[in-house]
Amino acid sequence: MRRLPPVLVEDGCSRELVSLIRTILAACKEISFRVGQGALSGVLGSTLDENIQGETQKKLDVLSNQLLKDILLESGYVKAIASEEEDTTVAGNPDAKYIVAFDPLDGSSNIDINSLVGTIFSIMEVDKESDPADPTIFLQSGRKQVAAGYVLYGPSTMLALSTGKGTRIFTLDKTHGSFLLTHDYAKIPADTNEFAINASNQRFWTAPMQQYIEDLLAGKTGPRGKNFNMRWIAAMVGDVHRVLCRGGLFTYPEDTKDPNKPYKLRLLYEANPMAMLIEQAGGLAHTGQENILDIQPTEIHQRVAVILGSKNEVEACLGYHQ
Ligand code: F6P
Ligand code: MN
Repeated sequence: MRRLPPVLVEDGCSRELVSLIRTILAACKEISFRVGQGALSGVLGSTLDENIQGETQKKLDVLSNQLLKDILLESGYVKAIASEEEDTTVAGNPDAKYIVAFDPLDGSSNIDINSLVGTIFSIMEVDKESDPADPTIFLQSGRKQVAAGYVLYGPSTMLALSTGKGTRIFTLDKTHGSFLLTHDYAKIPADTNEFAINASNQRFWTAPMQQYIEDLLAGKTGPRGKNFNMRWIAAMVGDVHRVLCRGGLFTYPEDTKDPNKPYKLRLLYEANPMAMLIEQAGGLAHTGQENILDIQPTEIHQRVAVILGSKNEVEACLGYHQ
């Protein structure tokens, strides 16, 4: 099985980009170890703090953020970082040309129940002259990502990565600490009979989404003429990983549960990197109004509606939104 660095070199990635990805993965290996230790390392449970988004931070959220932040800033490969757990961006090496946005530990409500969590990251390029302390350097559309990926801390630790030449899946060999290529060029089937949505929000969805899900649930005798299965992991990394492996539709749609927060998932470090991985594997990622990768961001912690996965099924869902 092939190791990650030569695969990236073969894809034409610069030496600097390969080093940056390896730096991110060095932090992820440590997070993987801590997550694996669970209660033994005393890192379960919450802190007394909230992040800028008003969510209570888990101890592992804080630890994972610190690990990524320290190792990235120390490496010299990044001009700045943006993180779900940081109020604003943090400046790095003024001479570097890459910036990284990340969700250090996605799905953190799963931490204390020993269920799936992961790290999501998005790498973009900026002008060498740009100011590392200027947060607006992060306001680039997802199409400009030079690489995107996630590391899933499950029964095995897996990396899904795209540098714009397909999406590949690697598995961490914990005896040697190498990510080995275990699934070249993931290909999401265009059709599916599996979907993922937090159905407890049903009464808060928009009319088109209510109708779409109602038709899926109607099964064989309904307008779709086939039975559908439902799954919900409550960690976007876990749900997207399943979609990459066997297809499906994943959505966190607009809702009116909290009028100040119509969308849940964050554009820069959740929706955009996942959209790149999904598109590069032949799927589609949309908000219902536009392709996620075409959105021009206006804020670092901006949220969006997400409908992604098997192409024909996402298109079927979009048909209800027109
Ligand atoms: O990061 C936000 C997130 O935890 C995603 O990973 C996940 O898909 C979603 O929120 C879970 O939402 P809910 O708590 O509504 O199930
Ligand atoms: Mn998250």
